[in-house]
Amino acid sequence: MTTLPDEAKLRDALGVLKDREQVAERLLLASDQHSFDPDTELDWDAPFEEGKWFWPPELVSLYDTPLWRRMSEEQRMNLARLENASLASLGIWFEVILMQLLVRHIYDMSPTSSHVRYALTEIADECRHSKMFARLIHKGGLPTYRVTPLHHNLARVMKTVSTTPGSFAGTLLGEEILDWMQRLTFPDERVQPLVRGVTRIHVVEEARHVRYAREELRRQMVTAPQWQRRMTRVTSGQSARVFALSFVNPQVYTDAGLDRHEAVAQVKASPHRREVMQAGAKRLTDFLDDVGVLRGVGRRMWKSAGLLA
Ligand SMILES: [Fe+2]
Ligand SMILES: [Fe+2]
Repeated sequence: MTTLPDEAKLRDALGVLKDREQVAERLLLASDQHSFDPDTELDWDAPFEEGKWFWPPELVSLYDTPLWRRMSEEQRMNLARLENASLASLGIWFEVILMQLLVRHIYDMSPTSSHVRYALTEIADECRHSKMFARLIHKGGLPTYRVTPLHHNLARVMKTVSTTPGSFAGTLLGEEILDWMQRLTFPDERVQPLVRGVTRIHVVEEARHVRYAREELRRQMVTAPQWQRRMTRVTSGQSARVFALSFVNPQVYTDAGLDRHEAVAQVKASPHRREVMQAGAKRLTDFLDDVGVLRGVGRRMWKSAGLLA
């Protein structure tokens, strides 16, 4: 008899879940109407414009630190260029992980369902995005920044064994914070037109990915076995910590001619940077809180990652 309240709660929660097929059908329709081929959509032959930023200065990790105030405008713009390359490299890493998670997610499902057809559409989007980010790095003559071997291998394990709710919580972490920054970047007239074009395409297509992952995570946090829901709270906290550490590759500071240790310490101590990261994560953390991911030890990990106030 003690199980009755739980069952009633489950029925209530199921009531707010949207039909999986209906969600996918809407997303497929939107994909038909607004998908882009970056190779033809963007002008890759136009030279970069003198005096324009590769990333809005306020979103550069060192912005408003004592070190930033000592830097010349030229040094600041160069750091923004390198951070753009670091974020584009990170974007490719996330997308490759996500593609594998999506393939694993649909492996046992009906291949003709709309839910699976949308997952395949999203994988195709991510393929185009990864090539677009790589082309941007290449055109800018910029370095490719790789995460540390430890994080690279942690992700190898995670993408191979993660549970379905764990996979979708990780997906949202990879998508939503970068998306928040890109939403500020594409309308910004101080920014290089090519960077604005890349971020605009990404924002439009990512909105659907976020919707798909949110609906699925909400469903999973009601229907998945309890051990998976519990584990998701911890693994998402751990992923948030890895995410915060690898968000900007510290090699950018060395490449910009700065003292790497001093730069890392100043970023860590920067109230502006903390605000930016927490503002970027706010939409995501509100949602994760709502669906029951941010509890217990996992919640403390999100705080120690600096992504939750
Ligand atoms: Fe993407
Ligand atoms: Fe995506």
